[in-house]
Amino acid sequence: MAPTIAKPLLSDLVAQTGQVPLSHVRPVGDRPDLANVDTESGAGIPLIDLKKLNGPDRRRVVEAIGKACESDGFFMVTNHGIPTEVVQGMLRVAREFFHLPESERMKCYSDDPKKAIRLSTSFNVRTEKVSNWRDFLRLHCYPIESFIDQWPSNPPSFRQVVGTYSKEARALALRLLEAISESLGLERSHMVTAMGRQAQHMAVNYYPPCPQPELTYGLPGHKDPNAITLLLQDGVSGLQVQRNGRWVAVNPVPNALVINIGDQLQALSNDRYKSVLHRVIVNSESERISVPTFYCPSPDAVISPAGGLVDDGHPLAYRPFTYQEYYDEFWNMGLQSASCLDRFRPG
Ligand code: OGA
Ligand code: NI
Repeated sequence: MAPTIAKPLLSDLVAQTGQVPLSHVRPVGDRPDLANVDTESGAGIPLIDLKKLNGPDRRRVVEAIGKACESDGFFMVTNHGIPTEVVQGMLRVAREFFHLPESERMKCYSDDPKKAIRLSTSFNVRTEKVSNWRDFLRLHCYPIESFIDQWPSNPPSFRQVVGTYSKEARALALRLLEAISESLGLERSHMVTAMGRQAQHMAVNYYPPCPQPELTYGLPGHKDPNAITLLLQDGVSGLQVQRNGRWVAVNPVPNALVINIGDQLQALSNDRYKSVLHRVIVNSESERISVPTFYCPSPDAVISPAGGLVDDGHPLAYRPFTYQEYYDEFWNMGLQSASCLDRFRPG
């Protein structure tokens, strides 16, 4: 048999092998333990209908969002306002992109986390010991004019379709940030203002089928570093969220998006709202595509808990820091369950 040639992207590596390469095998104490996961629907995260967010029942929807942010850090939304054809288009070009020939995909490849547009694999191949079962395309999306000309131009509809989705996702993120601010008793504009000029990143995650899912992760347990994440997933399960010390499967619900609180909203809310551990497991049957939109502060924004949420009973939980400072720390630390936020406690 010809020796295997190391391929930078997992998609091309798996095409050559029927087992998980050693580079992707987790040590025994650090494997997914797939038998020990809550999968019943009752254990799931809250599902919130956004239809009445703009109307006389707004208060009730805002309260439901606040409660979910406080107790789960995760929820799903329906009637979110992003048209079905925009969502379906996004998933379609994502799949087309990852099915392009290797030579075409490799034009976008980089392992430098500082690049605004890049295709890569795992999480950070420069620093991690074991790789993850994932390839991903990362794109900066806002302000869109600054980046769209650097996005992939193949498939030919990529820029138009992804541009439309990312604008819709931004509009939804802004509506959610208003509701979240309101649910904390703050000005509606509080969170968006605290995020400075703001930024928006998208990952297009591609998880190929995995011959031995018990040995590796799509993504190991981590918390998102940004403010709020809007996750679009195709029909394949894989996301799991930590709840009461157990892993709970967040199975896809048709036409719903998964929303989660990232570290910046935890900091800005002075720990009222929680950025929660989540992970991705893979399966041997089907490839899986997910598209998280990470809405975040601009690098120079100074993050500091809202004054209105600090009092004798709730002392200041974080010193002020810039998002740049935080983000550099996050990529260097690698994905792990320890929270990067703890490095920013006062004193
Ligand atoms: C992430 C993430 C979840 C998924 O990219 O940060 O948590 O289902 N993704 O791919
Ligand atoms: Ni995540």
